[in-house]
Amino acid sequence: MLSSKKLAALLPLKKIGETLYIFDELVSTNAFAMERAKDQALSGTVVLADRQTAGRGRLDRSWFSPGKSNIYGSLLLVPETTIQYLGWIPHMAGVAIAQALEQQTGIRIDLKWPNDLLIGGRKLGGVLCDSFRNAGHQTCVVIGFGINVNITQSEFPSELQASATSLHIQCHCPLDREALIIKVISSLEENWENLRSNGPQSLLVEYRNWCVTIGQTIQVQFPDGSQLKGLAHSIGEHGQLKVIPSPSDPNEQSARMRDIHSGEILHLRTTDQQ
Ligand code: BTN
Repeated sequence: MLSSKKLAALLPLKKIGETLYIFDELVSTNAFAMERAKDQALSGTVVLADRQTAGRGRLDRSWFSPGKSNIYGSLLLVPETTIQYLGWIPHMAGVAIAQALEQQTGIRIDLKWPNDLLIGGRKLGGVLCDSFRNAGHQTCVVIGFGINVNITQSEFPSELQASATSLHIQCHCPLDREALIIKVISSLEENWENLRSNGPQSLLVEYRNWCVTIGQTIQVQFPDGSQLKGLAHSIGEHGQLKVIPSPSDPNEQSARMRDIHSGEILHLRTTDQQ
């Protein structure tokens, strides 16, 4: 189980994590944080669970959330003023978590657009951002993060065997979940402060260092089932992925640059491109 004593002792006295909920089991930490937000919970509230019974992933998928091994957390942000750069929060969260994990473990972490956390092409974790209005009509964002920490290869279900990994698998040793959580929360706080004070400019520079999608031949799987093949060219001013459609894509008549705001990205190897 997650140790609340250990977490309380490690938590720096800052705004993020000042209100901290820790559960052995929740349906979903994002769902709980959204409920609290509707009751006007404070910005910086953090929700953690040892396991989730219906963890949610991006694009309406489920998130495998067994107990005693991984990190499932959500951070509520309620920006005081209308922010122009809401679209950058998912990227900010990806960068913050990648920085925290890399610093703590020394292992190279990559980001797949927008914020999948990868090690050597396998999925280590992901971020799910839910934005909505609370009763006071303030915009709220819940940043949900799931990180595979101590799960072993044989504990993944068969459908994740080929694509998922964990820090334990990569480091060949178990890791201290509480210490990682504190590092992640502190990094989210720093990066959020930076985005609020300086806007997305410096985040974009940092994001480019982590995002391995740019420059790759990719396939985009859209939520409506359609697909696009092309070259991931750059990141646009709202955090969107700019893609040059490949001339061989039968769904694409023109080579005009496309702006991708949502979708699953597949990094294609040369042999998959035909
Ligand atoms: C993804 O699909 O890559 C995003 C996964 C996000 C999972 C986390 S686990 C904690 C939080 N609560 C949820 O229900 N989902 C997010």
